[in-house]
Amino acid sequence: MSMHASVADRHVAYSIPEDVLAGLTASQKSIPSKYFYDAEGSRLFEAICELPEYYVTRTETALLGQVAEDIAAFVPQDATLVEFGSGSSTKTRLLLDAAPQIRRYVPIDNCRDAVEHAAQMLRERYPRLAVSPLVHDFTQPVRLPAAAARSPVVGFIPGSTIGNFSPDEAVEFLRNARAVLGPGSKFAVGADLAKPAEVLIPAYADDQGVTAAFNKNVLTRLNREFGADFDLESFEHLSVWNSVASRIEMHLVSRRQQRVEIGGWVLEFEPGETIHTENSYKHDPAAFADLAERARWRVAASYLNPSPAFGIFLLAS
Ligand code: AVI
Repeated sequence: MSMHASVADRHVAYSIPEDVLAGLTASQKSIPSKYFYDAEGSRLFEAICELPEYYVTRTETALLGQVAEDIAAFVPQDATLVEFGSGSSTKTRLLLDAAPQIRRYVPIDNCRDAVEHAAQMLRERYPRLAVSPLVHDFTQPVRLPAAAARSPVVGFIPGSTIGNFSPDEAVEFLRNARAVLGPGSKFAVGADLAKPAEVLIPAYADDQGVTAAFNKNVLTRLNREFGADFDLESFEHLSVWNSVASRIEMHLVSRRQQRVEIGGWVLEFEPGETIHTENSYKHDPAAFADLAERARWRVAASYLNPSPAFGIFLLAS
């Protein structure tokens, strides 16, 4: 363990969130990946989605375009569509176009600007659609607006967001989502699937260095928001494929022996020591079905793109 007690005479002006402190004081240092998404991190993530190496967004969008009508056949009349982590709601339009029977859309996201901007755009484009945004951490239980709770409900979580949860966290999320969506609901989940490391690694270590900037931006955020003094030049972006856990891991590797202060605490780094910043699980369809079943969902339909492998799973409760 490489952390000293607080420097006694220092005025600690920042309160470091417990999960950040716990992560940085563990023997394998880590930062929860949700801290990626400040304004700059969200902008960099949008840029990642456009990269030639990052097949995820393109592949899912194309697949959704092909299967939206099939998914629409599962959507009851006057349904409410609830999207978890909706961001800019870009892919949602493919479902809304294919399923005009959707009467209400409830995007859930804790970025107020993104969710309100998306809601406004959708109100203009779909004047008959009632849009009721919820500014909320989508991983946490939430009560749907009363009108939505009275209608048939269909959930949606595209983007392989579920891949950033550990299997146990994914099960917990799916259970919570089942409680939010209610009995008889459906849930369309986009999940990236296992594929050769030669495809995965470049997708998380692109030539232009956008993913590296995205990864390092979390240190800039800790510097700004929590008074840390990470020297960005002293850390290097690393993506590795962990075939045992079936996940891409992103790390920030210390280039040298160094000390970093954060809120009056001192972290010590050995050369080559890493901060683990993200897991991106790539399940196969059977493993995904298993997670869904542990959360008491059943896979009613699977839509699979063979290469690059990607799945959209339609779950029924
Ligand atoms: C948001 N999430 C699904 C992305 C992923 O692929 O795991 C985040 C990301 N990290 C690096 N590149 C993209």
